[in-house]
Amino acid sequence: MHTTLVINPKGGSGKTTVTLNLASYFAAASVPTAVMDYDPQGSSLNWIRLRPQHAPRIHAANAARPKGGQLRSLAMHVPPETHRLIIDAPAGATGTVLQEMLDRAHCLVVPVPPSAIDLHATANFIRDVLRSGRTRERALPVAIVANKVRRSMPRYQPLEWFLETLQLQLTARLVDSDVFVKAAEAGIGIFEMDPTIAIAEQRQFLPLAEWVEGLDRSRQRREGNVVELPRSASA
Ligand SMILES: Nc1ncnc2c1ncn2[C@@H]1O[C@H](COP(=O)(O)OP(=O)(O)OP(=O)(O)O)[C@@H](O)[C@H]1O
Ligand SMILES: [Mg+2]
Repeated sequence: MHTTLVINPKGGSGKTTVTLNLASYFAAASVPTAVMDYDPQGSSLNWIRLRPQHAPRIHAANAARPKGGQLRSLAMHVPPETHRLIIDAPAGATGTVLQEMLDRAHCLVVPVPPSAIDLHATANFIRDVLRSGRTRERALPVAIVANKVRRSMPRYQPLEWFLETLQLQLTARLVDSDVFVKAAEAGIGIFEMDPTIAIAEQRQFLPLAEWVEGLDRSRQRREGNVVELPRSASA
């Protein structure tokens, strides 16, 4: 199982939007997929409940701390046949919850909106948490996704500064678009929408989905789970 943690300490940056679109992309490609929601708001789990009957199945795991006597270990169970797990982090996660999510992750996706204040907070988060201690030793790959990019302002100076300072590259740029909102409301992802409506958003999102796929493939190759065909056989 390959696990992607979608995280940003700032609320409303696009964590749930990225989570559900990644999950539906993989599920639509017949990859056994699960979403683990750490957010007590349960937005990802609500979206899974909204999914149309015919839509590819996505397993829902609830990792938020239970209020009553429910067993967390049962609610957060992920079927062993799952190939891709996407974790939706809550805003402002710290301490043991943050560490638990980081320990599970093979890679991180950080959506950032075009706001200087949010970029500052995100830069501090990446510096302080992701590049220290246990996480640094594991050298987790990080993808930055510019989210809610205004069409009138495709380049945003504070974002360029952010990427330069942290020596990170931008993996995807998602415009501020009603298509993301409508998909979320219907329990589907943009890749499950008619391309005549969602082609621009699909094109913007694809580099992120391919980044996760590429990491998973190289990990499987390292672990010997992928058989490389000899040149003559694949030609
Ligand atoms: N690219 C986008 N274009 C338009 N609306 C977007 C886009 N990305 C996210 N939104 C909307 O912005 C709001 C916040 O997004 P989302 O819920 O994904 O953020 P979040 O980081 O998960 O928030 P929280 O920290 O509260 O969990 C939602 O209403 C969502 O539909
Ligand atoms: Mg959310």
